[in-house]
Amino acid sequence: MIKKIILDCDPGHDDAVAIMLAAASSEIEILGITCVGGNSGLNNTVNNALKVCTLIERTDLKIFSGSNKPIHYDLFTAEYVHGKTGLDKKGDPIIVNPDYNVQEQSAIDFIIETCKSTSDQIYLCPTGPLTNIALSLQKDPSIKNNIKEIVFMGGAAMCLGNTTPSAEFNIYVDPHAANIVLDSGIPLTMMGLDVTHQVNVNKMIINSMNENNNKSSKFFGELMEFYTIFHKKLYETEDTPLHDPCVIAYLLEPNIFKGKLVNVIVEENSKLTRGETIVDWLGVTKRKPNCMVMSHADDKKFFELLKNKLSCLP
Ligand code: RIB
Ligand code: CA
Repeated sequence: MIKKIILDCDPGHDDAVAIMLAAASSEIEILGITCVGGNSGLNNTVNNALKVCTLIERTDLKIFSGSNKPIHYDLFTAEYVHGKTGLDKKGDPIIVNPDYNVQEQSAIDFIIETCKSTSDQIYLCPTGPLTNIALSLQKDPSIKNNIKEIVFMGGAAMCLGNTTPSAEFNIYVDPHAANIVLDSGIPLTMMGLDVTHQVNVNKMIINSMNENNNKSSKFFGELMEFYTIFHKKLYETEDTPLHDPCVIAYLLEPNIFKGKLVNVIVEENSKLTRGETIVDWLGVTKRKPNCMVMSHADDKKFFELLKNKLSCLP
């Protein structure tokens, strides 16, 4: 059964790999790619999505521009990880054809219209701050009826944050949006740092992907060469977590992951713990479980899947 998805992202090196993985998979139909401010400003994330789709020769994919800032806070970006453009890398720059451009329609209206126009159930796959998803739900709550599941990259259940000691970047940037999604009643699956830090890129992985001997795998290598720089400094290891493709890998092969249905709520205002995902793993609060939180990943299966799919791209 083909899964129809909207990929909401802030490319971003790992978002770029999530786009590639989804585009390479015949099991997935990408209805549209919506962009949000996050890793970089909105203009950059939109341009980067156009660049990735140009590189993989998928200019049929429609790119939509969403929110340039969180619901309440100012935008906090991650140039320190993804560089000035949000997709810095070595190698030749990607030239986007002038007639491949962002759609006129806003991301929010596209999400609403798409959810309401099909009787099929749609998967929302956010890999950036949850602002676009939250604003869509606020503007037209009835879209919940057509959303099968929201599989999102964000949060940290039982591990440290990566933006503050307690908060993962996507949730830190827009905690209010995160709580709107968590309160929605829609089936949710959280790919947090607990699980994304189990699928790490390193030189061996880059070399293995290059065995595909195609431009998309070469592009993967160029992206990862840059993406690993920051992580080496922060984590003092070459291993670099490949966060966002976990969302797509879960749709393709859910058995790569294991987790538990628990209650998750996000701290919105504390100076110290803003963006912390309070994950009630032991059920001590008696709050209603609202999210499948993933805690384990089979990295061998993950990278076998990624290599196989990258080989299907140009
Ligand atoms: O914390 C990692 C997440 O924040 C990833 O989605 C990365 O792309 C950034 O958006
Ligand atoms: Ca992202």
